[in-house]
Amino acid sequence: MSNGLLKGKKGIIFGALDENSIAWHIAERAVEEGAEIVLTNAPVALRMGAINELAEKCNTEVIPADATSEEDLNNLLDKAMEKFGGKMDFILHSIGMSLNVRKKREYTNIKYDWMQKTFDISAISFHKLMQCAYKKDAVNEWGSILAMTYIAAQRTFPDYSEMAESKALLESFARSFGYHWAKKNKVRINTVSQSPTMTTAGSGVKGFQEFYDYSNNMSPLGNADAASCADYCITLFSDYTRYVTMQNLYHDGGFSNMGMSPDVLNM
Ligand SMILES: NC(=O)c1ccc[n+]([C@@H]2O[C@H](COP(=O)([O-])OP(=O)(O)OC[C@H]3O[C@@H](n4cnc5c(N)ncnc54)[C@H](O)[C@@H]3O)[C@@H](O)[C@H]2O)c1
Repeated sequence: MSNGLLKGKKGIIFGALDENSIAWHIAERAVEEGAEIVLTNAPVALRMGAINELAEKCNTEVIPADATSEEDLNNLLDKAMEKFGGKMDFILHSIGMSLNVRKKREYTNIKYDWMQKTFDISAISFHKLMQCAYKKDAVNEWGSILAMTYIAAQRTFPDYSEMAESKALLESFARSFGYHWAKKNKVRINTVSQSPTMTTAGSGVKGFQEFYDYSNNMSPLGNADAASCADYCITLFSDYTRYVTMQNLYHDGGFSNMGMSPDVLNM
């Protein structure tokens, strides 16, 4: 299905690792809707190979960038602008990784140098990316920048650990940078708070399957899947949402406004 919502638009997609990745679905949908894209991921993720399949499908190339490196980000933005023949219209930040979660450290026994690295990868990279692009004036008027987040930024989900604070920081960067970029040239910045989704990053959280089922039962529409998330993100990149900025937008089947669900009691 294509409605040409992104016809003539150009953008960079971060974070497609394999076909389960949320960014993978968004990249495919963006191209279906008429966009020209550049894909990027950390050099180590590129070695796994799957992203090259996506690049072939999307008729594009992969430009490696470690999102914590300003040098890599500047190089990526320069190369993307060269390929596009000018500025871009959208950027997706779909990056998350927690060292303490991965190494199974309890929240009450955090290693702080790992925590700093987690914040750097999962949140500060968003500010770095935006600052590099802002300084280069790389985004067209009414452009749209999105980052993926989770409701653990607002409520406590114990096994989400330090990723909760990462997401709180990420969402705050969207609001603060959203002000400055709206004033500069009407660029809008939002975060999309997505349902639990079966991906590499998602399933790294302890007890993910049980948690996924709980959330599915709590949400009157059920968990939103990655393909539906892609549909939503396309609308946010399109011209139909031009006055939406500095928002954290729930794409979660209703989960965020539920108190109790009989389906959960029956589990
Ligand atoms: N899966 C879920 O349940 C869920 C729910 C809500 C939000 N999210 C968020 O969605 C986003 C995408 O995650 P996903 O679930 O698609 O998992 P994923 O594992 O497919 O994607 C995470 C991506 O981050 C990339 N990455 C890690 N370190 C990087 C670095 N230094 N530089 C550049 N890229 C780097 C990985 O290579 C990978 O492509 C994340 O922000 C995640 O927190 C996921």
